Parts: sequence; structure tokens; C-alpha cells
Amino acid sequence: MKLPPFILERHFAQYEFEVPYQLSCSDCEPLRMSELLAMASPESMNLWENLQFFYTDSAGHPLLRHEVATLYEGILPEDILICAPEEGIFLVMNSLLEKGDQVVVISPAYQSLYEIATGAGCRIIPWEADDSGHYQVENLKTLVTAKTRMVVVNFPHNPTGAMVSPGDFIEISRFCDLNGIVLFSDEMYRGLEQDPADRLPGATSLSVSAVSLSGMSKSFSLPGLRIGWLACRNPATLNKLLQLKDYITICSSAPGEILSIIALQNRENILGRNRDIIAWNIRLVDQFIEDNPGLFSWNPPVAGSVAMLNLLSGQTSEQFCQDLLVEKQVLAIGSHLFNMPKPAIRLGLGRVGFAEALERVTRL
Ligand SMILES: Cc1ncc(COP(=O)(O)O)c(C=O)c1O
Repeated sequence: MKLPPFILERHFAQYEFEVPYQLSCSDCEPLRMSELLAMASPESMNLWENLQFFYTDSAGHPLLRHEVATLYEGILPEDILICAPEEGIFLVMNSLLEKGDQVVVISPAYQSLYEIATGAGCRIIPWEADDSGHYQVENLKTLVTAKTRMVVVNFPHNPTGAMVSPGDFIEISRFCDLNGIVLFSDEMYRGLEQDPADRLPGATSLSVSAVSLSGMSKSFSLPGLRIGWLACRNPATLNKLLQLKDYITICSSAPGEILSIIALQNRENILGRNRDIIAWNIRLVDQFIEDNPGLFSWNPPVAGSVAMLNLLSGQTSEQFCQDLLVEKQVLAIGSHLFNMPKPAIRLGLGRVGFAEALERVTRL
């Protein structure tokens, strides 16, 4: 399979470690090792200190699969396959899709959510938001044809921060089931709802054939661990995914698994901390927009760590980001990197350093 460059990841690779101010990171403030280990129970500390670097269980450490399963209603450890998040997308699309299938994908989207299916010979049908930035389920239904094999959704959404209601999400799942379509739900930002009532059930809890993807990188502040998971109640599907994993990573990183167990055992602390950081940054952006009348607008996110800041000055997002980079040493991700037509930049609201980066934008 030939894949074009991953535009966003190449852009980050070029600048992320050189530019001091970051405005657009999608992860939440990464934890330090000392902070994470300070949360460990005596039992998990024992796992950490006595860890021997064998290959690990290819489906994932049993205790980690147990902890992950408890994030969902009605899910058992055997329904979980541990993998890197990005790997999970690769596994799902290459195991469950055939050349010629149609795949309805939320748009805009994290590039691999449509690119890997394209590489597998599928035709992508984008599901776009309406003019007010909402994703309408009735519109999604009109995009499905007899050839549609999979619907790919991502709520809370990267990059816009859009959400659907729990009722709409259940309707999407029901519609997919009725039409024999696999619902692939990227839930990387689940747990970051400002109001817990907005939290969606995992798609895997709603449908036996749905596949949920999530991981430690965003909501749990551990992107460098490279640990995530797929959750699916259909054993035949999970087995296909596992068989492909043998050709990629075989098994997951042993220290990453133990550190993930510690984090998930302390999930409420970590999620609460991150929701507080996001809530604080949302207030800063509201103030920033008020202080710069006519220049910016946004839809504040009800969930997740990202949202788009619309640029009303007439400048392109490319030019705006370039000026920020050169004049202010601020790295911002423009809407052009997501193929979005309107000029905007992605705001990464989960980082503590966001305030300082935003402050520098004001003085552009
Ligand atoms: C929506 C979404 N899915 C998947 C991923 C992949 O996660 P990771 O980079 O941890 O592999 C990302 C990362 O930005 C993402 O935003």
C-alpha cells in the first residue's frame, strides 16, 4: 500500500521540538514520570519495579485490558486489544475493508482516518458539518449506499471540538447496525467533556460490530507511551485485528503497559486535572476574542482539547501561521493542513503553556 505523506505529522516533525511556543497541540499537558509514579498503588509500584523485559502478551497485559474494559459499559477484558492509537486505525482499516468499499468519514478528519482506507482502495464519502458547525445524523444517513462498509466518526472531534448528543450517537450506531455497516468510532478525546452529562457511550457498548478506538495520548496525558486500544465485542473481528498486529508491533511496550495501568487506576485525577486546564484556557480564548473585536471567532468546545479559532481578518491560515512562526516563535496548525476551506487555526486547549502562546498572538 502506498500512502501520501501525513501532512500534519510531517509539519509537527519539522517544528515541534524547535519552536518554543505551542498553540495547537492536541494532547493534554503530558505527565512527568515522577507525577505518575507518585499515584501508583503499592501493587502497581511492585509491577513497575519488578518489570522484566519479556515480550508482552500480544493482545495486551491482562490487568491493562481489565482497566480499559472498565471505561465502558458491558465490555470485558477479552474485548480489548492493546495497540498504539495510530496503529489501531491501520489495523481496523486494513482488516475490515476491501477494495471498492465505500467509507463514510467525518470531515475534516485526522488524516489517517480517511487516508488508510483510501490506500486500501476504498472510496471516501465525507460527512461534513452544517454551517453552524454541527454534524447532523440525518445528513449522514443520506451518504450511505449499498456499497458502504464502514462509517468513521470522531467525537469529541479533532480538529473542531464538535460533539453530537448521546441520543444522536445511539441513532448513528442503530442506523449502522440496521444497514450492516461497521461503526468505527475514534474516541481519543473521550473523558474530556466539560459537563459529564455530555459524555458519549463507547460505540463498542452500543453495538457488537462497532469498534472503538482510544488511548493514553490525549485525555490521559501520556502521548509518549504509545499505548492505546481497540474495543470490540465481536471475537472474529478482534481476531482479525490481532492477526494483523503480528505484522506490525507484535506486542505493545512492556513499560508503557504498566505505566498505563497506573494512569487508568488514577483516571479521575488525571481527567479532572485536564478538564480544569481546558476550562481555564477556554476562558482565556473568550477573553482574547473579546479583546480583539472583529478579528476572531469560535465555537467553544463542550468536550475535547481542541477547537478552531476562525480568522476574520482576511489573511489566509497559511500566512497567519507563517507570521506567527517567524515573528513570534509560535507553532500553530492552520485549517489548510486539514483541507478546511475557511481560514482558521486549531487551538490546543489542554496545555499549560497555551496561555503564553496565546498572549504572543495578541501582540502580532
Ligand atoms: C482523532 C485522532 N485519532 C488518532 C490519533 C492518533 O493518536 P496517537 O498519535 O497517539 O497515535 C490522533 C492524534 O492526534 C487523533 O487526533
